[in-house]
Amino acid sequence: MQIYLDTANLEEIHEGFTLGVVDGITTNPSLIKRERDRLAAKGEPVEMKDVLNDILETAGPEHPVSLEVIGTTYADFVREGKILYDTFNGVAGNVVIKIPINPVIGESTQAQYDGLKAIHNFAKQDIPVNCTLIFTPEQALLAAKAGAKYLSPFAGRVDDYLRKTFTDNEFDKTDYYPGGGFPEEGVCYHDDGIVSGIDLVARIVHVMETHDIEVFDGSKPAVLAASLRNARQVREAAEVGADIATLPYPVIGELLVHHKTEEGMKGFVADVVPEYRKIFE
Ligand code: E4P
Repeated sequence: MQIYLDTANLEEIHEGFTLGVVDGITTNPSLIKRERDRLAAKGEPVEMKDVLNDILETAGPEHPVSLEVIGTTYADFVREGKILYDTFNGVAGNVVIKIPINPVIGESTQAQYDGLKAIHNFAKQDIPVNCTLIFTPEQALLAAKAGAKYLSPFAGRVDDYLRKTFTDNEFDKTDYYPGGGFPEEGVCYHDDGIVSGIDLVARIVHVMETHDIEVFDGSKPAVLAASLRNARQVREAAEVGADIATLPYPVIGELLVHHKTEEGMKGFVADVVPEYRKIFE
């Protein structure tokens, strides 16, 4: 499974690439806002073009970087995606345009098909698309057929929805929610049959494995498990066969922690004898 960093934070991105485990970057307008606020708080003038150039250059040609459109209609998506691609793909050739599966907000269903149409428009131009805000396997299937190279199910937000809707439990969004679902009297809470965020990822993986769908470059669409907020969720995303997991930087740290590792370190450090230490002097 590939690992992407889900951040626009330049320090995290620079640091992440020194680890040798980061394969790409995903951003969205909320992450860009967080980075703008962080830089502004340091009193630095924020030139977003420079920030994006730096992210793309740091990632380099081998590592895709998803940049999201900001509008809510087909015309917006096509215009903005083209601006993003034309302005930034020259930096390192790694731009992926992120488009929501369905931009409708509120009552009107006018723009319901606009995400798909825009995905297909870019796919026909061989421009890679990451389809975002996926909450059902059928949305993923349509995005794949329209030509999206990456499918982003939002696992953590499914778990948020289930625990908010069906339980009175206080929870933090980084808390683990069982991938197998949360059973009450033998029946799991579910959102139209989806019992957890990881269940959503698993079902999309299964659909992609069952049907032969190819995108413009001959590859199968990659299932990019998104909105992952804790280590165990990442383990489960890997177990169910996600092609990619995109993670907040601190979750990589969390993946490294085990109390027996720490205990082992304590023992080794305590057992260093002077004769052995001398070798390093
Ligand atoms: C992925 O592409 C999204 O940017 C992200 O994973 C959303 O995560 P959140 O639900 O924790 O905001």
